[in-house]
Amino acid sequence: MTDSTNCIEFACPACTSLLQQKSQGLECNHCNHIFNNSEGIEQLYMANDEASPAHDITDKVKAFYEDKPFPNYDDFDSVTSLISKAQQGYFARLLDEQIPPNAKIIECGCGTAQLSNFLSIKGRKVIAADLCLNSLRLGKQFADSQQLTNVRFVQMNLFKPPFTHEQFHLVISNGVLHHTGDPQAGFEAIAKLVKPGGYIMIGLYHYWGRLITDLRRFIFNVSGNRFKGLDPNLRKAGTKAKQEAWFNDQYKHPHESKHTIREVAGWLKQANIEWVRSIPDTHLFRDFSHSEQLFNREPIASNSEALLREMAMVFKGSQEGGFFTIIGRKPSSP
Ligand SMILES: C[S@@+](CC[C@H](N)C(=O)[O-])C[C@H]1O[C@@H](n2cnc3c(N)ncnc32)[C@H](O)[C@@H]1O
Ligand SMILES: [Zn+2]
Repeated sequence: MTDSTNCIEFACPACTSLLQQKSQGLECNHCNHIFNNSEGIEQLYMANDEASPAHDITDKVKAFYEDKPFPNYDDFDSVTSLISKAQQGYFARLLDEQIPPNAKIIECGCGTAQLSNFLSIKGRKVIAADLCLNSLRLGKQFADSQQLTNVRFVQMNLFKPPFTHEQFHLVISNGVLHHTGDPQAGFEAIAKLVKPGGYIMIGLYHYWGRLITDLRRFIFNVSGNRFKGLDPNLRKAGTKAKQEAWFNDQYKHPHESKHTIREVAGWLKQANIEWVRSIPDTHLFRDFSHSEQLFNREPIASNSEALLREMAMVFKGSQEGGFFTIIGRKPSSP
């Protein structure tokens, strides 16, 4: 099957030179590395340098997800069910309504690539990238079975992304950076991929929002994993494989960190990315509406108001695993 993602420029993850498509795979003219394509997945993974704080954790996290790909698929999933699930979750629906069909997108840490596959349906060029080959295999199998040809699967390490800089309209990384040894450095690495005028969207565990999950983890650990009914998401997760993937991801993960909205606002500043908005909003009484304009700027609230709003996530954030999303924009070229 041919795909339509030939407009994407790959760069060597070892030396950053442009890669050329050759019959045996993507080749670097500078350091002579050849990167294979196996089962339709570009294999461009490069380990972190040993001195990097992300080194050991990346290996552990890779082994964890190779064993239990996340979030996995339901047996009956199809393009129709993917669309209908996106409609129910409304975040994916808003993305689909608001990202133009000619956009070039990369999802860094796509897992089994539900969102990447979904966003490719309308003809957007999507790179679904993850370090876990087994997750990518599931995503690719789904894409092939549904004849989705605008999505390309890449095994990579987000600390060494194998792409030329500033080529994507949107970089997404949902639930990923908090499973790395250096989330801010990971953010900086993927922010380089955003085109001037383009956007970056990251989802992270929240310091306060995650407290109830921490409490449940404690109960599961001391009770030998009984009382699983305490997690409302587990009941909704679908097949046994999906339930297991959720349970492991939430409660048995080898590494997770937690963050605050104001902390991540600082990362944006340091990487010269403009603040667009956070979800939830940092203003106390502003709730997320079902017709929200995701790429419109919503300034951050004062420090004290934002602090109160963030603390309130103890109660509100726990339903989705204590998650928040930040959207930023790379300034247009002068
Ligand atoms: C919790 S899953 C999230 C999957 C998907 N984004 C979602 O929202 O369902 C985290 C994913 O991040 C990937 N990941 C973790 N560290 C990574 C790294 N250094 N480079 C690329 N992917 C990474 C894992 O393999 C895993 O698939
Ligand atoms: Zn090279």
